[in-house]
Amino acid sequence: MNKKVTVVGAGNVGATVSQRLVEKELCDVVLIDIIEGVPQGKALDLTEAAPIEKHDAHLIGANDYKPSKGSDIVIITAGIPRKPGMSRDDLISTNAGIMKNVTREVARLSPEAVLIIVSNPLDAMCHVAYDASGFPKNRVIGMAGVLDSARFRAFIAMELDVSVENTHAFVLGGHGDTMVPLPRYSTVAGIPITELMPRERIDSLVERTANGGAEIVSLLKTGSAYYAPASAAVEMAESILKDKKKILPCAAYLEGEYDINGLFIGVPVKLGAKGIEKVIEIVLTDEEKAALEKSAAAVQGLKDTLKKLDAK
Ligand code: APR
Repeated sequence: MNKKVTVVGAGNVGATVSQRLVEKELCDVVLIDIIEGVPQGKALDLTEAAPIEKHDAHLIGANDYKPSKGSDIVIITAGIPRKPGMSRDDLISTNAGIMKNVTREVARLSPEAVLIIVSNPLDAMCHVAYDASGFPKNRVIGMAGVLDSARFRAFIAMELDVSVENTHAFVLGGHGDTMVPLPRYSTVAGIPITELMPRERIDSLVERTANGGAEIVSLLKTGSAYYAPASAAVEMAESILKDKKKILPCAAYLEGEYDINGLFIGVPVKLGAKGIEKVIEIVLTDEEKAALEKSAAAVQGLKDTLKKLDAK
């Protein structure tokens, strides 16, 4: 029997995630959205592409959760995206309500699933999903670091005119302006980029990475990035479905690691069949530690906002 992945939200990110999952023949996909006809139409369209794309994965589109029963993974992309001038944090009240309802539904029907959270503001949405699902912390994972490090890698490859395949990048922290790219762990063919380009060029790539989402929003004007976010979510799903145990930067619930307690923060984790199988701790310099603390404070601020919204 094929593995089953439910994708909630059949918009730009959700539809692209579904396309990549089936075209890699990783699993069957259930695509769910509140808009009538849209998940059904996109699932049918992707099914009709299957003979040409040469895969036998099955897709179902639905407006209710019944077909999602027994999913191995649920990827949640439901919510509203950013418009120009908006920060990810501006989405919090609308998307928190959506995330709570969606998580309750999927957790009830797929109590053993691993949840991959994509909706923004990412770190806050992970907290909502963690609370609403009641799942153990290893099965609630946020997609941020894989995307942020892919952006950093793309910029490094452009700068040095080398293959993206030779690049490796390391990003910690929250998914936002306080993310913490680590140049000394970012390499080209194993060589740290600190040996390949001057400090000011690295700083400029780091800044472009931190503003990577906003750069796309300002170009698209009507929505936010989706090709790279979808690729990132699918890389995480693949590692879980195939029990590959890849080390990937993801938002994970920390209880003491990196001296952070009770917060979702981007850290390197081992992703396998059980979800997060290990949080990888590395020794940080004082400067990196300070940047991570700043990032944690920003996530704590979002968590406090959620509490206030809950009390209303
Ligand atoms: N249940 C199911 N689907 C929902 C719900 C809900 N309660 N509320 C909204 N949706 C659906 C919308 O109908 C829409 O089809 O979520 C989809 C979101 O799609 P887009 O508007 O195209 O947004 P997208 O670009 O896919 O981004 C989705 O991911 O990257 C983040 O910041 C981004 O939070 C945003 C999310």
